[in-house]
Amino acid sequence: MGYTVCFANNKGGVGKTTTAVSVGQAWAKMGKKVLFVDLDSQANLTSMLSTLEPDQHEFTIRDAFLDKDNFHIENIEQNIDLVPSELSLSNFDRDTAAVTGREYLLADLLRGVKDKYDFIIIDCPPALGLITYNALIASDHLVMVSTADGLSYSGMVMIANLYSDVRSNARLNKDIKLTGVVITRYEKNRLSDMYIQKVKDELGQAFIEPIVPKATKITQAGSFHQNIYDYDPEGKATKAYFEIAQKLALRILPDE
Ligand SMILES: Nc1ncnc2c1ncn2[C@@H]1O[C@H](COP(=O)(O)OP(=O)(O)O)[C@@H](O)[C@H]1O
Ligand SMILES: [Mg+2]
Repeated sequence: MGYTVCFANNKGGVGKTTTAVSVGQAWAKMGKKVLFVDLDSQANLTSMLSTLEPDQHEFTIRDAFLDKDNFHIENIEQNIDLVPSELSLSNFDRDTAAVTGREYLLADLLRGVKDKYDFIIIDCPPALGLITYNALIASDHLVMVSTADGLSYSGMVMIANLYSDVRSNARLNKDIKLTGVVITRYEKNRLSDMYIQKVKDELGQAFIEPIVPKATKITQAGSFHQNIYDYDPEGKATKAYFEIAQKLALRILPDE
C-alpha cells in the first residue's frame, strides 16, 4: 500500500510544482514507483513531465472527477506515471455542485490504485478551495513548500490552518500528518533569514534541511521537460532536492 503525499501552499509561484516533481523523480531514481496527480488547472506539473501539450491529453483528472470510469493513468517513464490536468479543471466547483460527498472524490479515485505505487504525489493549486480540500482528505502526508518571504509564509499558514481543520474532524482525515516544510529559491539576505528562523521556531519538527538555493538551471530544466538530475546533476539545488527526497522517504516509510 503506497503513501499519498500532497505538496501545498495557498500562494502561487513558491516552488510547489518544482518541489513535487524533483522529490518524485528522486524517489523514482531510488527505485520507488511514483504516481503524480496534477490538481492545478494551470497544468504546470503536466507540462513538466509530459511532452504533450496540456490540451492534447485524452483524459485528465477533470474527466475522472466527472465520471470515475474516465480515470486514466499515463505512463511517462520507468517508475513514473501521471494523471494530467487541464485548464477546465478550474470549473471543478461548478462541475460538482450537485455531487454529494464531492470533497471525497479524489480519495475515492486513489483508493483503487494505491497498492500499485510506493508514492502518490499530489500537486495542489494555489488556493484553499474544494480541490485542495480533496487533496488533504486524500493524503497521508502534507508537505508545505515556501519561499522565504512574508506572503509565501502567510500562504503556508493558511494551508496549515486548513490541515488542522481536516485533521480535527474524524469524518475528514484525522490521520494526515504534516511531514515536511521545504524552503526553496533561497537567496541569502536579512529578510529571508528572518523568515527561515520563523519557520524553524513555529514548524521546527516538520522543517527539512537543506534549504533549496535559487538556481537558474531549475527553471530551465522545467521549461525543457528535463529532469534536474540529468540536466544539472552537480547543481546545489539538485543535490538539495535529492537529500530532501531521501529525508522525506525516511519520515514516510516505516522501515527504511
Ligand atoms: N530553486 C529554484 N531556483 C530558481 N527558480 C526556481 C526554483 N524553484 C522554482 N523555481 C521557479 O519558480 C517558478 C515557480 O515555481 P513553481 O514550482 O511553478 O511554483 P508553484 O507550483 O508554487 O506555482 C518557476 O518558474 C520555477 O522554475
Ligand atoms: Mg504549481
